[in-house]
Amino acid sequence: MDRIAVVTGAARGIGLSISRALLSDGLTVVGVDVDEERLSETAVALSGEGRRFYARPADVTDHAAVERLFHQISEELGGVDVLVNNAGTCFMNDFTEISADELARQMEINFSSAFYCCQRAVPLMLKRPGVKKIVNISSNGAYNFDVFDPAHYRASKAALDTLTKHLARRYALDAIAVNSLAPAMTRTELFDVVPRDVLERAVAAMPRGEPMKPEEVAGWVAFLVSPAGDCSSGNVILLNQGRDVR
Ligand SMILES: NC(=O)c1ccc[n+]([C@@H]2O[C@H](COP(=O)([O-])OP(=O)(O)OC[C@H]3O[C@@H](n4cnc5c(N)ncnc54)[C@H](O)[C@@H]3O)[C@@H](O)[C@H]2O)c1
Repeated sequence: MDRIAVVTGAARGIGLSISRALLSDGLTVVGVDVDEERLSETAVALSGEGRRFYARPADVTDHAAVERLFHQISEELGGVDVLVNNAGTCFMNDFTEISADELARQMEINFSSAFYCCQRAVPLMLKRPGVKKIVNISSNGAYNFDVFDPAHYRASKAALDTLTKHLARRYALDAIAVNSLAPAMTRTELFDVVPRDVLERAVAAMPRGEPMKPEEVAGWVAFLVSPAGDCSSGNVILLNQGRDVR
C-alpha cells in the first residue's frame, strides 16, 4: 500500500524541500498551497524527477476548503498516512502596531490551518495501518526571545506546539505520532519580509554565521516520518545549530 503524505505550503521554501525528501523516500505526496501558479511550477519540477506528486491548490485557512481537500484525497488516493503542517508566514509589525485583523490572520495562517488539517486527517489516519505521522513546522521564535520575531508570530507557533502535545497524548493509543520541528533562520523567500539590518543581525547570531538550509529541515521531517521516528511523539525539536544553548 502506498504511503500518502499531505504537505501544506508545498509550492516553495521548506515545504518544497519536504515534498522532495518524502518523494525520495518513496511516499506519494499531495502538495497543497494557496499559490496555484507556483504550485503548478513545483509540480512540474518534482514530476520531472519521476515521482508521484499531486498538486492540490487550497487555502488552508478556509475550513470548508480543507474539508473538501481531505475528502477528495480520500476518494482519489484512499487515505492519509502523513500530514506535514508547514504553511505559514510572519507578519512583521511591532506589538502596538498589530491590528486585530492582522492578529487574527497570523493565527489563522500559522495555527488554525494546522488545526483544521489535523481534524480532517486524523479520521483518515485511524483507518490506516502502522504508525501515522503528523509533523508541525513551528519556529525557534516561540522559544528564543533574543531575536526579532513579533509577538503574534511567536504566539501562533506556541499554540501549534500545544496542539502537537494535545494530539500526541490524545492519539497515542491509535499509533498517531505527532511532533513539532522548530527551526531557526532558514534561507527561503520568507526572509524577504524581514528588514535587511534585522536579517543581517539574526543571521550573524547563528553559530555558523549562515542560515540553515530548507533541505536540512526537510531531512528531519523525513527522519520523523521514517520508521526511526515511530517512537517519538509529543516532542518539540529545536533546530538552530546550537545557538540557544546556555
Ligand atoms: N524560513 C525560516 O527561517 C523559518 C524559520 C522558522 C519557521 N519557519 C516556518 O516554516 C514554514 C515554511 O516557511 P518558509 O520559510 O518555507 O516560507 P515561504 O514563505 O517560503 O513558504 C510558505 C508557503 O506557504 C504557503 N501558504 C501560506 N499561506 C497559505 C495558506 N493559507 N494556504 C496554503 N498555503 C499557504 C505560501 O504560498 C508558500 O508557498 C512556515 O510555517 C514558517 O513559519 C520558517
